[in-house]
Amino acid sequence: MDESESLQFVFRNPTKIVFGRNAVSDIAYEVELLGGQRVLVVTDRDLAKSAMVEKVRKALGSCYAGLYGEVVQDTGVEIVDRGGAFGKGVGADTVVSVGGGSSIDTAKGIAILLKEGGGIRDYAAQFNALTRPQTPHIVIPTTAGTGSEVTYAAVIKDHERKQKLLVVDNHILPNTGILDPEMTVGMPPGLTAATGMDALTHAVEAIHSEQHEPIADAMAMHAIRLIREFLPRAVENGRDLVVRGQMLIAANLAGVAFGNAQVGIVHAMAHSVGARFGVPHGVANSILLPYGMRFNLDICPRYVMVAQALGIPVEGKSAEEAGLEAIEEIKRFTGRLGLPQRLREVQVPEAGIREVAELTLYDGSLVYNPKPAFDAEVIESVLREAW
Ligand SMILES: [Fe+2]
Repeated sequence: MDESESLQFVFRNPTKIVFGRNAVSDIAYEVELLGGQRVLVVTDRDLAKSAMVEKVRKALGSCYAGLYGEVVQDTGVEIVDRGGAFGKGVGADTVVSVGGGSSIDTAKGIAILLKEGGGIRDYAAQFNALTRPQTPHIVIPTTAGTGSEVTYAAVIKDHERKQKLLVVDNHILPNTGILDPEMTVGMPPGLTAATGMDALTHAVEAIHSEQHEPIADAMAMHAIRLIREFLPRAVENGRDLVVRGQMLIAANLAGVAFGNAQVGIVHAMAHSVGARFGVPHGVANSILLPYGMRFNLDICPRYVMVAQALGIPVEGKSAEEAGLEAIEEIKRFTGRLGLPQRLREVQVPEAGIREVAELTLYDGSLVYNPKPAFDAEVIESVLREAW
């Protein structure tokens, strides 16, 4: 908690959330509320021909204008640019994304291109450069992790430069998120576990962030409680709609928390290890979270809150003891979920660690880490621990 006199914060949460089983069936109404008439649906190659996307298409009825189903894992500059051109071609005035973080972030980029023109690289150079609302965007997540339906950032891979571009702007916050548990039942256990750990990492990093604040704290704490209870159950039985629904809520809460408080060294390293070696975002976070926390532990009494949310008794323990127990509990938790524990298990070569550390220095998330880490050597040592 922060009870200091210097406490100052801004909290935003403008995205409308519609939750419920079969909530997708109301999408035409949500489009109408946003003044849309021609909807571009954006999704990935796997989902493009799925019954889920078909359901969205049917529910859109006469306002359906076209499907851009070319998104892949870790979306890229070309995919976004082609999607923008396709959307213009079908005369789209509204974007609906169906998928995980990659599809949602692609749609955020397309929403800009439909309004402003140009290529997505033009918008990655500066923060909050857009001066007006962008193309209305409704998000239907099919994973429970990214929280991208409530964040104002899009991560887009620049394959040429082997870097992840960050587009950060309040005007790309989606207008509406439709959280329908039926849309996430198709997720296999491995993806369920990894995306759920992305959400847990958002929550923990929102709590340890330099920009932490009490509203985000409350949301992050509840997200951790829900993930602790429901993620193992979602991995075990993906058909359980109650459990799937609770995980969507957890990911959303964690998304709002980090959308306001930001993330830190764990995400900075995870972005780099993903950009350089293709490690999926949730898997990278899951492996790196305990090591990022261990790095911050001596200056971060806030891990007591993480321990509490994980159900660890903290009374009579120092902040460091409680934090250490939280770290160990997270390792046990990911072990039980069947997730890899080390970077070396996910094809990161030892010889590549230095390069990842250097790349991490350029990641904006590092700014919010509670302990300064603007030194490749320091980051390298954390990565080595995790290797
Ligand atoms: Fe993340």
